[in-house]
Amino acid sequence: MKILLTGGMGFIGSHTATVLLEAGYEVVIYDNLCNSNASVLDSLETITGKRPSFVKGDIRDLTAMTAALTGIDAVVHFAGLKAVGESVAKPIEYYDNNVHGTLVLLEAMKKTGVKRLIFSSSSTVYGTPTTLPLTEECPTGTPTNPYGRSKLHIEEILADVCISDPDFSAVCLRYFNPIGAHESGLIGENPNGIPNNLLPYVARVASGTLECLRVFGNDYPTPDGTGVRDYIHVMDLAEGHAKALPYVLNHKGWIAINLGCGRGYSVLEVVKAFEKASGRKVPYQIMPRRDGDIAANWADPKRAFELLGWKAERNIDDMCRDSWHYEAKRSGIEA
Ligand code: NAD
Ligand code: WQD
Repeated sequence: MKILLTGGMGFIGSHTATVLLEAGYEVVIYDNLCNSNASVLDSLETITGKRPSFVKGDIRDLTAMTAALTGIDAVVHFAGLKAVGESVAKPIEYYDNNVHGTLVLLEAMKKTGVKRLIFSSSSTVYGTPTTLPLTEECPTGTPTNPYGRSKLHIEEILADVCISDPDFSAVCLRYFNPIGAHESGLIGENPNGIPNNLLPYVARVASGTLECLRVFGNDYPTPDGTGVRDYIHVMDLAEGHAKALPYVLNHKGWIAINLGCGRGYSVLEVVKAFEKASGRKVPYQIMPRRDGDIAANWADPKRAFELLGWKAERNIDDMCRDSWHYEAKRSGIEA
């Protein structure tokens, strides 16, 4: 089976590539490297002993996309821009890259007769939860930013494509909060500039690259007042994609599936777990709430178990250990 990963050089795509290569799939990565580095290919080869094919290209380039899809059995579509704050400042770029990019990909799939797609969706499509845990039956809400809306638009476009073509299969995997890194420490999450997300920020405070964590709000209706999220190890997430592939190859129609652990941790619980994993202090100060943040969300991951036979195996200590290992290598603390 030959699988094309759009955005496969990025954080989640590269971890998924390791699992698919080790499971014996032929992997083609299609990426324009706007948020990743070609050196990931060497790391993938070191980890798995196999080097995936790589095409440097943009998903909005219909000719290149069509050429890359020839002979492909299924697509896993990771490519997209993902910074929430930036999407508010640059909505046109976000809709162009994410929504228009997906439309071009779908056009290329139509031209080449490829009808199997796994899409990187997000728990952000639920908006502000009215009940927890979030099942896939919970209504999709009103995401609070263009990034979130782009994910919801794409899910809806895929549902329409499945209605128009009964042979098409689209699995929208709704990720909760992916963190951690491959246990080798060779690949991980390495955002440019100051990280927006909690874990890369905490990791850089622990390594001394940043001085102090700002905790956004301690007056939420949660046990310790700080925001609660369903953090999931990126390798568990990667394995979820490997389990979704046989499903997408053997089923037709549209479906959304949550990938989360099914429990939440607060910001302060994460800080504590990270201090334990790294043996270092993570100084923090309480700040006002961040605009657009919700108090808490976590998944009901039952559907993923029932349909894919998948459940998350790694806990918050594993996530922090692997995140720290990657950060320690990245920052030169560890060789
Ligand atoms: P990432 O930025 O590390 O990876 C995305 C990859 O896509 C990068 O390698 C980038 O170079 C590539 N890319 C972007 N636009 C492209 C284009 N037009 N053409 C070709 N390649 C392009 O992000 P990630 O964290 O690995 O996220 C992967 C997917 O999962 C994204 O769609 C993201 O929205 C989604 N997602 C991420 C999270 C998260 O917290 N990381 C949560 C939910 C959903
Ligand atoms: C987690 C918690 C913050 C940074 C985002 C996107 C979502 C998905 C995952 C892509 C919150 C708190 C954070 C900091 C803090 N991405 N925090 N200090 O906001 O749950 O989700 O990433 O699809 O769509 O919205 O993740 O890691 O930014 O925040 O106190 O410096 O940590 O307030 O409670 P979030 P996050």
